Amino acid sequence: MNIVILGGTGFIGRNLVNMLSSEEYSVKVPTRNREKNKKFLVYPGLQLVQCNIHNQDELVSVTRDCDILINLVGILNERGFKGKGFEAVHSNLARTILYVCKVNNIRRVLHMSALNANSSGPSFYLRTKGDAESYMHTYGERFTNITTFRPSVVFGKGDGLINRFSNLINFIPFYFPLACANTKFSPIYVRDLSYFIINCIDNVDSYQKRYNLCGPKVYTLQEIVELVIHFKKRKTKVIPLTDNLSKLQAYTMQLLPGKPFSIDNYNSCKIDSIGNSDYDFYTELESVIPGFIER
Ligand SMILES: NC(=O)c1ccc[n+]([C@@H]2O[C@H](COP(=O)([O-])OP(=O)(O)OC[C@H]3O[C@@H](n4cnc5c(N)ncnc54)[C@H](OP(=O)(O)O)[C@@H]3O)[C@@H](O)[C@H]2O)c1
Repeated sequence: MNIVILGGTGFIGRNLVNMLSSEEYSVKVPTRNREKNKKFLVYPGLQLVQCNIHNQDELVSVTRDCDILINLVGILNERGFKGKGFEAVHSNLARTILYVCKVNNIRRVLHMSALNANSSGPSFYLRTKGDAESYMHTYGERFTNITTFRPSVVFGKGDGLINRFSNLINFIPFYFPLACANTKFSPIYVRDLSYFIINCIDNVDSYQKRYNLCGPKVYTLQEIVELVIHFKKRKTKVIPLTDNLSKLQAYTMQLLPGKPFSIDNYNSCKIDSIGNSDYDFYTELESVIPGFIER
């Protein structure tokens, strides 16, 4: 079976590719920059293809012999401020994906969304993720078998959560001002999530389903950062910011290169990323962080 993984070079994609390479699949990963991602070629049989996936013709060509398409493309921040970037990467890409599935008769699609994704959510991120998901299921279910994954925040080696705070603490070692400190998350381990996705590939019961996926424990953002500090063996003190100061921090930091924190992130944090998980996962942050955190 031929699998194409869009966004396969990212954090979750790397884990998935790693696990899939031991299975009997032929995996193709389109990327915007083949040169930068050449390390992927260590996986036997993996094809890494330079491609603009937003271009219908290019994506049709790259997915011509594809049986299963996995979409992991997503962004937490856009270049501008008006939501156009989110729209392009989330909702418009969903349309392009369904178009190529129809043209190439691809009968299996696994789509990565996010917990709280909703067309009327509080942020561009959640709204465009919600639009993408609705579109996938409303139109896609007519001609392909779709499964959508809606995880809370995902952790593991190379993630954007633990590693981001670990790096920030290196720069701000004494008093750490934390925005949205009370927002709650149910972090899910990337390997658990990847196993779940792989097990869904052939599972007919997962067709046309959307799964809310949460880890075994709920933590506030402050508790997560304090765990990072604990495992880094630092004495950094977390200073939770008020709502107004959190917003001010977001306004300021979104002007920095790479937008380490933005108003859109702040808006996403207005709702807790927790809920009833449709599957039980057991790996806790505490058991995994020590294995990959940089001290
Ligand atoms: N990580 C989490 O905590 C978490 C939680 C909930 C949901 N999710 C969702 O899970 C998916 C994967 O997350 P991740 O953490 O693995 O993301 P990631 O590390 O940022 O990787 C995303 C991948 O998407 C591709 N991509 C990014 N912007 C693109 C663009 N403008 N055009 C085309 N391709 C683009 C990139 O591939 P190339 O650079 O090779 O082109 C990149 O490897 C996303 O949809 C995300 O929203 C993640």
